[in-house]
Amino acid sequence: MNSEIERRRTFAIIAHPDAGKTSLTEKLLLFGGQIQVAGAVKSNKIKKTATSDWMDIEKQRGISVTTSVMEFDYNDYKINILDTPGHQDFAEDTYRTLTAVDSVIIVVDGAKGVETQTRKLMEVCRMRNTPVIIFVNKMDREAKDPFDLLDELEEELVIHVRPLTWPIESGPRFKGVYNLYEHKLNLFQPSKQVVTEKVEVDINTEELDNQIGAPLAEKLRGELELIDGVYPEFNVDEYLKGEMAPVFFGSALNNFGVQELLDTFVEIAPSPRPTKTEEREVEPDESKFTGFVFKITANIDPNHRSCIAFCKICSGKFSRNTPYYHVRHEKTMRFSSPTQFMAQRKTTVDEAWAGDIIGLPDNGTFKIGDTLTEGEKLHFRGIPSFSPEMFKYIENADPMKQKQLAKGIDQLMDEGVAQLFVNQFNGRKIIGTVGQLQFEVIQYRLENEYNAKCRWEPISLYKACWVESDDPEELEAFKKRKYQYMAKDREGRDVFLADSNYVLQMAQMDFKHIRFHFTSEF
Ligand code: G4P
Repeated sequence: MNSEIERRRTFAIIAHPDAGKTSLTEKLLLFGGQIQVAGAVKSNKIKKTATSDWMDIEKQRGISVTTSVMEFDYNDYKINILDTPGHQDFAEDTYRTLTAVDSVIIVVDGAKGVETQTRKLMEVCRMRNTPVIIFVNKMDREAKDPFDLLDELEEELVIHVRPLTWPIESGPRFKGVYNLYEHKLNLFQPSKQVVTEKVEVDINTEELDNQIGAPLAEKLRGELELIDGVYPEFNVDEYLKGEMAPVFFGSALNNFGVQELLDTFVEIAPSPRPTKTEEREVEPDESKFTGFVFKITANIDPNHRSCIAFCKICSGKFSRNTPYYHVRHEKTMRFSSPTQFMAQRKTTVDEAWAGDIIGLPDNGTFKIGDTLTEGEKLHFRGIPSFSPEMFKYIENADPMKQKQLAKGIDQLMDEGVAQLFVNQFNGRKIIGTVGQLQFEVIQYRLENEYNAKCRWEPISLYKACWVESDDPEELEAFKKRKYQYMAKDREGRDVFLADSNYVLQMAQMDFKHIRFHFTSEF
């Protein structure tokens, strides 16, 4: 069992849209033998145009559903790549996916540097000390100066960096990268299919001048010296603690620099790590199976409306048709058709190990965060909800369908599509999301899956924050003062709905002992 778990590498590729996540994923699948030609993997980007309605979105999302997890063998390793939605309106989905991975690869566009989405996702990685490798992409295009880029990465992502390859120019002058730990020169040939040959050179000989020309050779020697002087040695332990990120340069589109990345990744990236529960820490090599649901996806096929619950196996071995304990329902369940995912295909799986992701057919039995075990009552932690950024009142638009609406809202919230708050002052339901798209998704799905109609009404709010205090009197005084803005989340916890940043700051000043949290887990 240990060797099965040891060889697993479960990770996600994260990036700002357009940085090259899809291209990189595709090249990794190419190395894994999962696809034979480039261009086979479709982008899961949801392109929102003026004319696009939710149906288009759903069709596009269909692609991302089947490619939610990609697994393949590479050398002796079993690789699980968890896909994350490219569109920022689905950021919450990405945050949750990050709770199921053991490490991440961040793709950065060499010309654009660190972008907003990258910054946000990195914050989530930092919260969990997730080990991070950075791939600076699109070096075949004019890119920023590599030293400036490294400074930007350090500053913006708040992590130490150490380049493991070094680019020789960029854009039309891009010659390739020098591999700093293998001491090899990797010459660039624009090609989507061919993996470039490596050339072994001693950088202090004329051989380097012959390969890239004397001026560039001289420049490279100077830069390498500078790197050694400025950046500390790469230290795997620091990487594993999430304190230092190795950096690679390349071009995903041209399959350049990708193999270096993959080879280093499998070697240094962690095998499944222990997972925290409320009760204790679960080690991956424990003999008994445990797992938790981190994502639920609706099926887009209208004839098979069931959902898939994605379960990360945290310990032991999962077997098909074996009774497992659903902790929240206090019920034993068997799964006759659990699935695993290969590139575009889905196959039934008989057994899976810690680190793997399995898809469980779901008809409303699962909720994000649900735990499965062999009987132990465990509750996995670390699937926080973040304060939404957009808010609307949800109202019933068809008085005959009150029940359907309530059920629909309930189940969609279980799936984690958005967050529900109930205003304690007027009893109205407020839906909070991270993007406009979610409101469309909810309305569409309520109509099509639950036969219910909803209407949105505006509410102007800035943030929802969870409040707590060791001083019950002060908390009561606060709730009294803000009674119009107090709500409960689905777990019955107190949430303050601040209508502006100013109001929030004033509240923080006036009530010194109250803690305002912007994530649901604190
Ligand atoms: P994403 O999943 O992160 O959103 O990015 P994706 O891989 O879809 O790449 C976004 C665009 O950047 C694509 O162009 C892709 O071809 C291009 N790209 C990715 N890697 C590289 C690279 O190394 N060099 C260059 N020059 N371009 C790269 P597109 O025009 O949006 O799509 P397509 O028509 O090429 O498919």
